[in-house]
Amino acid sequence: MSTVYSRITGTGSHLPPRRLSNDDMAAMLAKRGLETSDAWIVERTGIRFRHFADEGVACSDLALPACRAALQAAGRRAEDVDLIVVATSTPDMVFPSTATILQNKLGVHGCPAFDLQAVCSGFVYALTVADAMIRTGGARCALVVGAEVFSRILDFDDRTTCVLFGDGAGAVVLEASAEPGILASDLHADGRHAGILCTPGTVAGGQVVGSPLLRMDGQAVFKLAVGVLEDAARTVLAKAGRAPESLRWLVPHQANIRIMQATARKLKLAPERLVATVDEHGNTSAASVPLALDVAVRDGRIRRGDSVMLEGVGGGFTWGAVLLDF
Ligand code: UT7
Repeated sequence: MSTVYSRITGTGSHLPPRRLSNDDMAAMLAKRGLETSDAWIVERTGIRFRHFADEGVACSDLALPACRAALQAAGRRAEDVDLIVVATSTPDMVFPSTATILQNKLGVHGCPAFDLQAVCSGFVYALTVADAMIRTGGARCALVVGAEVFSRILDFDDRTTCVLFGDGAGAVVLEASAEPGILASDLHADGRHAGILCTPGTVAGGQVVGSPLLRMDGQAVFKLAVGVLEDAARTVLAKAGRAPESLRWLVPHQANIRIMQATARKLKLAPERLVATVDEHGNTSAASVPLALDVAVRDGRIRRGDSVMLEGVGGGFTWGAVLLDF
């Protein structure tokens, strides 16, 4: 029997139209008696803009156009899809999953659909799960999605977090293929660090119990992120039997340009090989990697056959990398 691999055949993304600059954020915070500035945000993070969904726009509403664009790029129709995995920490509801709501909005019914929760590592986790299902015959044409409405869980009285995040969605069509495709993955979690980046509230007894707003110890996350991203990158290259010099593109989680540049430097990757969209999107958690991937595919940087490393890191604490030939 011939070996089955999985391969990305199309990418898509979507941003809600409301675009806020750092100056817009500064004006919003000033009304609350808080101070921030474009200079502080750019210098510390590289972020210049973020998009916020309007009231009533849910995670699945952002995911839907991203999926349609990915399907079109792959030359597939929604009816061809036999698996939907949505990575999100800001689902439409407690249940059912955003993936099933998305499936219905796509107008298809019957195929397995589920959400995956690994916060900012969510897309890398979801791609690894979908790859495993395709390689073991459980699916042939998967939609793998990262979609978030992080604006819903931001504390606008906390200037250390609310300026960092944004909303958006990215999607890929992942199909069974005789050629790889995805070469190797490396996923990790360490729950000892759950408290440094979390939204600790829950729903119980008919009400929200605990805080439903994001909180983060930025410095603790920063320190952990820099170390684990290098480890995951080296591990995944070793698993695939590839040298770091063979890598053409690094598409890491878009949280902070300083973390991303540090990872690229450690891999001795030329700065122009780093795909960075954090300036335009802010941190969109699980959506950030597929959003950045789609931008670089559509502007012609990432081409068929290019070696691409995707990396995620975030709450949990979770992290991971996927190496693929595009
Ligand atoms: O998505 C999951 C992965 N997440 C990440 O990777 C985030 C990792 N962490 C980071 O990116 C950075 O730690 C931050 C961008 C969150 C913060 O940057 P930092 O260089 O670690 O700043 P800091 O927290 O040490 O704060 C420096 C100063 C503080 O003032 P003092 O105590 O030195 O007087 C803060 O109060 O900057 C102050 N500050 C601000 N000033 C203006 C914090 N937030 C703001 C703000 N505007 N928005």
